[in-house]
Amino acid sequence: MNQILQYVDANKHRYLDELTSFLAIPSVSTNQENKPDIDRCARWVADHLKSIGMQNVRIFPTAGHPLVYADWLGAPGKPTLLLYGHYDVQPVDPIELWTSPPFEATVRGDNIYARGSADDKGQVFVHLKSIEAYMKNGGKLPINLKVIIEGEEEIGSENLAPFVKEHKQLLRSDLALISDTSMFAKGVPSVCYGLRGLAYMQIEIIGPNRDLHSGSFGGSIHNPIQALAEIIEQLHDKNGRVTIPGFYDDVMKLTARERAAYKKLPWNDKSYAKNLGVPALYGEKGFSSLERVWARPTLECNGIWGGFIGEGAKTVLPARASAKLSMRLVPNQNSEKISRLFEKHIRKITPKTVQLRVKYLHGGEAALTPIDSPGVQAAVAALEKGFKKKPLYQREGGSIPIVVQFKQLLGLDTVLLGFGLPDENAHAPDEHLNLTNFYGGIRTAVHFYNELPAYMKNGRSRRRG
Ligand code: BES
Ligand code: MN
Ligand code: MN
Repeated sequence: MNQILQYVDANKHRYLDELTSFLAIPSVSTNQENKPDIDRCARWVADHLKSIGMQNVRIFPTAGHPLVYADWLGAPGKPTLLLYGHYDVQPVDPIELWTSPPFEATVRGDNIYARGSADDKGQVFVHLKSIEAYMKNGGKLPINLKVIIEGEEEIGSENLAPFVKEHKQLLRSDLALISDTSMFAKGVPSVCYGLRGLAYMQIEIIGPNRDLHSGSFGGSIHNPIQALAEIIEQLHDKNGRVTIPGFYDDVMKLTARERAAYKKLPWNDKSYAKNLGVPALYGEKGFSSLERVWARPTLECNGIWGGFIGEGAKTVLPARASAKLSMRLVPNQNSEKISRLFEKHIRKITPKTVQLRVKYLHGGEAALTPIDSPGVQAAVAALEKGFKKKPLYQREGGSIPIVVQFKQLLGLDTVLLGFGLPDENAHAPDEHLNLTNFYGGIRTAVHFYNELPAYMKNGRSRRRG
């Protein structure tokens, strides 16, 4: 163990150089023009897995972007861990707000800045480097390991569940592990035991059959932008609650124990608001900020457009207006049911003066991992060793829909071992990863693989094939 940890320390700088090459590939999954980069990135991941000693490395083409698989199964009788991550990244715009180019990783202070540094290439790399440390010091891992790194996470993982369904035998494991979340705060490691689900919708309001002169026609026709604004305005009440009938019906309530535990976390609303530059916080009445983000469902408008948005003024009554609206869901809510309730309600409140089109973009379910499960307890032990600090339990507001599918399709609990920080600008300009957490993450992963067999002794019998 010491030799492995020393190896990690001795190779720090090379690790960073290699991460820089990984981050240099603009694997933006949503952009068609980046398709060659996506393919190149999948090959980079596959080659790297080979170079660190993983076996059976394969690039599986899908209907969308390729998925990389590798395994190492040289520890008979020991648990099998399924490690999941994603090599695709979000678009970089608005690019002018980046301090350094998004695909030229730059170290400033204790951070590395690049698109994908925190979400999720940097966190995937944490594991590749801890695997390497084992392989170069004794040539074996303390567990069996299967790795899948996909290229479509940021666009809804459309081809991932079909892949898992088709390859149940190949993916058969005892536990899943994902490093694609954040720690509670700098210097405060945490295990995440819950994520929210998602139902992502787009609506279009259609008014007249063409753009009109707002002087000649304004006053006689319901402006689609106004109609859209009226619809969106009605979706929350004065208590910040979503008004869609049935929206809260299936919501799993926070337990008294959870509410008490959240109250004890080192949290301050004032500094949170100040850090985000808002004059005051907003949210569902009766819940704290952490409760609102982690365990309550929400509806957000993610984008809105229509009419004239160029420079200067143009007097136009536009033919159409649109909005992207997404709902974060909590355990027991079902994304398809919520999408249906959404559509029904929007149809009901759309005025007779305009037409409506509703499109479902994608969705996924919320997840909870029992905190007393062996994997979570192994993670707690590993974090304590890797960061020299007792970790907290937390949930997060983001979504990783595959977690529920691992449970449903493979019978696996998922441990969420995040090494990002909440303010590292994932999906935004100047995304970065803290280097102390990067190296702490590698040490934690080394400990996690080492601790797992002892914690999983009884867990393994629950395995399904
Ligand atoms: N790494 C995030 C998930 C995440 C974000 C977990 C914040 C915890 C906190 C992931 O890459 C992501 O961005 N997921 C999307 C959902 C997906 C279905 C497009 C998200 O949460 O918006
Ligand atoms: Mn991610
Ligand atoms: Mn993401």
